[in-house]
Amino acid sequence: IDGVFADKTLAGKKVLITSGPTFEPIDPVRGITNISSGKMGYALARACRDAGAEVILVSGPTALAAPVDVTRIDVTTAQQMHDAVLAEAARHDVFIAVAAVADYRVANRSEHKLKKQGAAPTLLLTENPDILAAVAALPNGPFCVGFAAESQHLVDFAEAKRKKKGVPLLVANLVQTAMGSDANEVVLLDDAGQHPLPIMGKDEVAAAIVHHLARQLNAKQG
Ligand code: CTP
Ligand code: CA
Repeated sequence: IDGVFADKTLAGKKVLITSGPTFEPIDPVRGITNISSGKMGYALARACRDAGAEVILVSGPTALAAPVDVTRIDVTTAQQMHDAVLAEAARHDVFIAVAAVADYRVANRSEHKLKKQGAAPTLLLTENPDILAAVAALPNGPFCVGFAAESQHLVDFAEAKRKKKGVPLLVANLVQTAMGSDANEVVLLDDAGQHPLPIMGKDEVAAAIVHHLARQLNAKQG
């Protein structure tokens, strides 16, 4: 177990990770959310910890236990995730955005439970802040790693996302393969091009991502 990261490639580094879905309330008992088990983000938190990093995991609602020796901050909404991340980002060396953040929240959320009477209610949606783009835009901010879950045109859509958000490393995966599964098949995208990885367990994928990011980070710091 210990051999893989015997070299502790992230020793002394502080790593901030988002994981899981966000949940955006409609009323006290209902909401809209994204499908995300949190498994990939939690696997990355463990992999970074095993590589010697100090890890904070900002997690949306999941069924997973907090990894040992990782500080977990529990949040529900995208706005809460944004605020927790921006309070921590500046003092971190690496930010990895794995969370499936809801792109929109309900603007006309009801304080009380909606009753089934009369016409069907209309939900007004308003856009949530883009957490990864906000961190990537920080002056002297952390090294940013993004994820892109696509259902088609994987590499093209993901590379466009990498450019738009201005992140040096992006992990692209097909939702059909990744969602809910213990395995994942990803393509790493960086300035050097495409690096497809074989289908593996999420722990192995996480180890490969850590290996890749540590090399980029150390090259950057010369
Ligand atoms: N992300 C984020 N905050 C958001 C939306 C996305 O931090 N409000 C992050 C995700 O954690 C992921 C990356 O941005 O690392 C890409 O998320 P994705 O949903 O694939 O991309 P979007 O830019 O939201 O584009 P779209 O959903 O339209 O494909
Ligand atoms: Ca999105």
